[in-house]
Amino acid sequence: MTKPADDLRAQTSLPLIVGPMFLVSNADLVLASCKEGIVGSFPAGSKWTAADFETFLKDVTDGLADYKAKNPGKTVAPYSINLSVRKNSARLQADLALCEKYKVPVVHASGAVTPEIVKQIHSYGGIIVQDALNAEEAKHAVAAGVDGIIAVAAGAGGQAGTVNPFVLLGEIRQFYEGLLILAGGLTTGKDILAAQTMGADFALMGTRFLATKESAAEPDYKKMVLNSGSSDIIYTSAISGIAGSFLKASIEQNGYDAEDLRKRGPGADKIPTPPGEEGKAWKYVWSAGQASGNITDLPSVADLSDRLKTEYADAKIALAKKLGLGPKPAAPKAPTP
Ligand SMILES: Cc1cc2nc3c(=O)[nH]c(=O)nc-3n(C[C@H](O)[C@H](O)[C@H](O)COP(=O)(O)O)c2cc1C
Repeated sequence: MTKPADDLRAQTSLPLIVGPMFLVSNADLVLASCKEGIVGSFPAGSKWTAADFETFLKDVTDGLADYKAKNPGKTVAPYSINLSVRKNSARLQADLALCEKYKVPVVHASGAVTPEIVKQIHSYGGIIVQDALNAEEAKHAVAAGVDGIIAVAAGAGGQAGTVNPFVLLGEIRQFYEGLLILAGGLTTGKDILAAQTMGADFALMGTRFLATKESAAEPDYKKMVLNSGSSDIIYTSAISGIAGSFLKASIEQNGYDAEDLRKRGPGADKIPTPPGEEGKAWKYVWSAGQASGNITDLPSVADLSDRLKTEYADAKIALAKKLGLGPKPAAPKAPTP
């Protein structure tokens, strides 16, 4: 592994990041994840003002410092902040300044990051990763000097990609040896090991953690994830103008024809937003990934983390056995003369 990958692994108890989820991530989810040794993430844009974002940063920084002081020796993972760098807005500058002020340990950029942003995060010792839906976006991120790439494969929740995960990781590994994180459809400890076997260093899960006690998703939203299979996920740009994965039942609940949107695909025109709700599409049409098909419960983050750690350890043993790498049977004792 490369240095950022080694450093992050040393600060975590499972090679796992909980993905940032607009209007779903909250301080409880971030704190609970980090306390279990898993990187917890939050999208800065989920707070409507920079002042509210600063309050969030203060709460998380204080919460983790307090927990570390009371639990010496426990692995407490760093947290990550997701910044959309698509527009160089006044808000982005304010959010970057806050990341610097609070020394945010991991910054996750969405959109094409610039070398200036990378320099700003490095100036205080932070690490910066960028998400990429395809090899071209990953190449741009590498050129800008990022410390890691999140490869977002087909079927992911939120603004998913369309590339098969094997192909996406393989293509990125042709030009990049650094920290590589796979996202899209992962729900179990076995999936984390599989991601590593495919060439990733870390896994990232979104939808799996949406369906936890701590997430801010409404109870009906969580229930809808449990009741949805992978074919109940519609990939369309009609909801927010950018292609993303949405729950069919939620689209229908809002009076839209989900099957029509599926047919029109990612190029569909944006459907009209209810008056007064402009820019808030995700508040009323709910996003989740194909992983919904493998999620059947709503555990606490602590219970889910325990389960993922056990599954990951068991998967290593099962794989070693499958590959004939298990402990060799003891050699028969030589007969005593
Ligand atoms: C409801 C929801 C909101 C999301 N919001 C964001 C976001 O604000 N920023 C971002 O980079 N990714 C966002 N994502 C994507 C996740 O961070 C992650 O990449 C994705 O969920 C991984 O796929 P999975 O859901 O199959 O695990 C969102 C995903 C969901 C389900």
